[in-house]
Amino acid sequence: MSLPKDFLWGGATAANQCEGGYLEGKKGLGTVDVIPWGEHRRAVMQGQLHYNELPKDSYFPSHEAIDMYHNYKEDIKMFAEMGFKCYRFSFAWSRIFPTGEEAEPNEEGLAFYEAFINELLRYNIEPVVTICHFDVPLALEQKYGSWRSRKVIDAYVRYCDVIFRRFKGKVKYWMTFNEINMLMHLPFMGAGIMFREGEDEVQVKYQAAHNELVASALATKLAHEIDPNNKVGCMLAAGQFYPYSCNPEDVFAAMEKDKGNYFFIDVQSRGAYPNYAKRFLERNQILIHMEPEDERILRENTVDYIAFSYYTSRLTSANTDVGEKTSGNVIAGIRNPHLKASEWGWQIDPLGLRITMNSLYDRYQKPLFIVENGLGAVDILTEDGTVEDDYRIAYLEAHIEAMTEAVEIDGVDLMGYTSWGCIDLVSASTGEMKKRYGFIYVDKDNEGNGTMKRYKKKSFEWYKKVIKNNGLN
Ligand code: BG6
Repeated sequence: MSLPKDFLWGGATAANQCEGGYLEGKKGLGTVDVIPWGEHRRAVMQGQLHYNELPKDSYFPSHEAIDMYHNYKEDIKMFAEMGFKCYRFSFAWSRIFPTGEEAEPNEEGLAFYEAFINELLRYNIEPVVTICHFDVPLALEQKYGSWRSRKVIDAYVRYCDVIFRRFKGKVKYWMTFNEINMLMHLPFMGAGIMFREGEDEVQVKYQAAHNELVASALATKLAHEIDPNNKVGCMLAAGQFYPYSCNPEDVFAAMEKDKGNYFFIDVQSRGAYPNYAKRFLERNQILIHMEPEDERILRENTVDYIAFSYYTSRLTSANTDVGEKTSGNVIAGIRNPHLKASEWGWQIDPLGLRITMNSLYDRYQKPLFIVENGLGAVDILTEDGTVEDDYRIAYLEAHIEAMTEAVEIDGVDLMGYTSWGCIDLVSASTGEMKKRYGFIYVDKDNEGNGTMKRYKKKSFEWYKKVIKNNGLN
């Protein structure tokens, strides 16, 4: 037994973290383009500080990022050299519909992605496209308040219609929303939600979630109608919650936390609001506005696969006073004394990946796709132009081993593995360049200085071998 022959090895990125060219080719502003680096970043991402109130000299890392907009040929060539079977990236919605509501899509934006995809196909790299990775055309936020309005469902479905037709036969793997559950934690980053004074934030978040879920189902329907070969996935910021102790109260608390994340995937994969979610909404007097056809749309258009990111497991307790707090991939928890952590405090738990995979597969019985995993670390470029990133190799090796065991021993059906930030890019949570994930080093610092030159790290050759061997040995 081993990993399947057609296993999709590759890397993953997102437009706003690597593309740059934020106004080039008639692109419009996206919500991600007004999220600054620095002390105000978190408040903006949470939808608590309005981007109009930022200091005039704020620096926005998405504007240039690593300039993949101009360097994509060189970057894809390096991915091909590593032997990538697939490459996961996202379209910037506002490159195709600059304000979200034009009568016609922006041809320059479509042509850019067409050239990009052609370049991948030239090397037999399968494109895996995230339709929306944390970006909404800013005009839709200004006009409708982003996903709180059903108008945005219409705009999203039109965008999907355009891209499914244009890239028919070239792109087969799609994901409707990156880390759809991020909406609950960082509403502006996750879904373009900026709160207004005095409003019920929980109500707004659940309404936005419902609208995204309907949009996701409508996109899935359309993708299947336009090309029955299309495979559409949901995407979860995953990572099992562990109970802090064997006290049943803690075990229950962990189960409840997991349900908070599963909620989205339960709807996208099983096609209906689960009972626990209905009761939660009732109990908390959260009234979601639904159209009569929504239930049918959700029921009839479930996803083909479950994609997820995994960086860490999480620890929780019924008792709010225990343990030291930590933030792993944004979702806060308690520090796990059995685990080491990255320089950014994200705890390292390879077995947690196997546990998470088993939980997701048992629950949904659909193929899984690990579309993000990796170690954000400080890298030092040596004089001979490389990075001795043995720590990254160790992290990835341990996770790939756990992943392989989940497949070979536990029988989890897994389509592929794309390591996050295969080329260094802007960090989503901090806006830094210093937090690097790549096999390829990009010479740029947090303030935007640097030559932007690309260098192969030690992990580059290591990953190339892993792909060639279809696994660790
Ligand atoms: C995921 C996101 O949450 O984690 C990515 O989908 C993000 O966009 C990645 O970059 C790693 O997080 P960070 O904050 O280290 O960039």
